[in-house]
Amino acid sequence: MVSTHTTLGGFSFDNCLMNAAGVWCMTKEELAGVKDSAAGTFVTKTATLDYRAGNPEPRYQNVPLGSINSMGLPNQGLAYYLDYLLELQETEPERTFVLSLVGMSPDETHTILKQVEASDFKGLTELNLSCPNVPGKPQIAYDFETTEAILHEVFTYFTKPLGIKLPPYFDIVHFDQAAAIFNQFPLAFVNCVNSIGNGLYIEDEQVVIKPKNGFGGIGGEYIKPTALANVHAFYQRLKPEIQIVGTGGVLTGRDAFEHILCGASMVQIGTTLQKEGLSAFERITNELKAIMKEKGYESLDDFRGKLRYIED
Ligand code: DHB
Repeated sequence: MVSTHTTLGGFSFDNCLMNAAGVWCMTKEELAGVKDSAAGTFVTKTATLDYRAGNPEPRYQNVPLGSINSMGLPNQGLAYYLDYLLELQETEPERTFVLSLVGMSPDETHTILKQVEASDFKGLTELNLSCPNVPGKPQIAYDFETTEAILHEVFTYFTKPLGIKLPPYFDIVHFDQAAAIFNQFPLAFVNCVNSIGNGLYIEDEQVVIKPKNGFGGIGGEYIKPTALANVHAFYQRLKPEIQIVGTGGVLTGRDAFEHILCGASMVQIGTTLQKEGLSAFERITNELKAIMKEKGYESLDDFRGKLRYIED
């Protein structure tokens, strides 16, 4: 029997597919939709300490090869997501879910993480170091000094399983430098990648989203090669205890298969979920299983990380 079962951070999941943060995860109703779909788990919209309305609309557009967004971190605030996760711990104690969060400043990030630490939450936490869309705030993970300082501080008090969401990197030296930092810490996972930041899409001589005069994060088909490169670069460089979550350009079972081949233990679906809806999970799962069956693979372990190079 072919299985897409996986593990992440010591937890078990019936399926390796889930939503990517930002898509189908703003409200409890949306999260319940993902939970009750073929997905193995869900991740919440990245939570800040307090509710945020986000940037003015239009702030998300589907485009033929993907999507562009500058949402600006709209979210219900930490307490909303944490309350729902604690409720699910009572009603569905056998399942594990993921809380995404980041502060509007390093201080706020520590305040949030200390609240999660002090709570009864037993799931996985994803610290988002890669939001590209808040005017005036650079992506944390492109600033290695700040990233290292934040992680140093976090691991003085945070003892629950923690992963980080990363932006794409584009230079081998940056893969090396980033991995050297992450390897210093007891991270459960790194999630590669967030959107390719600050692209521009034009239609009829006009931008298609309002915030930042049209600049926004690019997702979907455009970004798969960049996503796969980041998944594999970190799979090669990180200590084996740090697992990889693969995100970016997953439209089909073949795309998910490639993420796993590059080293991913979990695969997230963003733009495709936004475009297609919850049925995408079942379709992509079936396509992935068909590929595995054809190749004689029964579990993800049979091919995870086993990307072949061209030898002399
Ligand atoms: C937003 C976008 C992101 O890519 C992210 O990681 C967090 C927040 C946003 O614009 O809301």
